[in-house]
Amino acid sequence: MAEQGLMQDRTDQDAGGASGEGVRVAAITGATRGVGRELAIGLARSGIAVAILGRDLAAGQAVAGQIADAGGQALAIAADVTDEHSMARAAAQAADALGVADALVCAAGTSLGKAPIHTQDLAGYRQCFDTNVLGIATALKAFLPAMIAQGGGRIVAIGGTYGHKGVAEQALYASSKWAVRGLIKSIAREVGQHGITANVIAPGGIEGEKLRGLFARSAERQGTTADAVMADFLKGAALGRLVDGDDILAALLHLLGPGGRNITGQDIVIDAGTVI
Ligand SMILES: NC(=O)c1ccc[n+]([C@@H]2O[C@H](COP(=O)([O-])OP(=O)(O)OC[C@H]3O[C@@H](n4cnc5c(N)ncnc54)[C@H](OP(=O)(O)O)[C@@H]3O)[C@@H](O)[C@H]2O)c1
Repeated sequence: MAEQGLMQDRTDQDAGGASGEGVRVAAITGATRGVGRELAIGLARSGIAVAILGRDLAAGQAVAGQIADAGGQALAIAADVTDEHSMARAAAQAADALGVADALVCAAGTSLGKAPIHTQDLAGYRQCFDTNVLGIATALKAFLPAMIAQGGGRIVAIGGTYGHKGVAEQALYASSKWAVRGLIKSIAREVGQHGITANVIAPGGIEGEKLRGLFARSAERQGTTADAVMADFLKGAALGRLVDGDDILAALLHLLGPGGRNITGQDIVIDAGTVI
């Protein structure tokens, strides 16, 4: 009898949601471009209906259109993570159109230009924390109540390896990533009783337009080439290569799938061996 009860618990907990069927609906902040967009497309490809959240509705609609063209289900919703009311509206809209989100993926983020702390623009600092840290709190406030009511779910925030080390001239952005870890580890302790997991995925530099731009700007400052900056960057990685969106997607799918049922409060670094 006891064994039967245990088996039942296991079946229920295998799912992100309460039904035992796995994650069906995911809301993703910051899905209009960058890594969030790649994750949204990847989740949709694996059969999950996705709510694409971001301020740029046209960009979100383009992502949703791409997903629909490939046979997936997606809805673009205009939402600003720095605005609690905007996020509450987005959660209601997503639930009406797609059903309650079993998974919340917080990928919205902003970075700051490199500068020593005594020259940093503090308005930029506030915007960085409002987006990267409080922006996760607004999403949690908006999406958690329905997740709790349905008795299960998965939360994943995209942090970064800058939350694992001190980074000269990036003190403010880096400290926002440290804060993401503290926030999610604390949330994991709160929501576990409701069958909800909460984790961070911390990518290193992700192959793409943004990172290439960063290398190009650094090269300009240093009077060298972008390739030379990249080669220098790669020296710090044990595997000597960059990570890409598929690496992040694979970890996300694991956390949202049956294999993630007992992983919570963790910060999974995916950086080809830079932070070791
Ligand atoms: N790219 C990398 O190499 C890298 C490495 C480590 C960690 N990360 C982290 O991964 C996350 C995504 O980075 P990314 O490089 O993909 O950035 P990105 O290309 O600049 O995209 C940022 C996304 O966040 C959204 N966003 C920004 N402010 C927002 C706000 N106030 N409300 C709602 N959405 C907002 C943007 O959408 P709208 O403009 O439409 O609002 C966009 O979809 C960030 O947390 C970043 O720190 C990235």
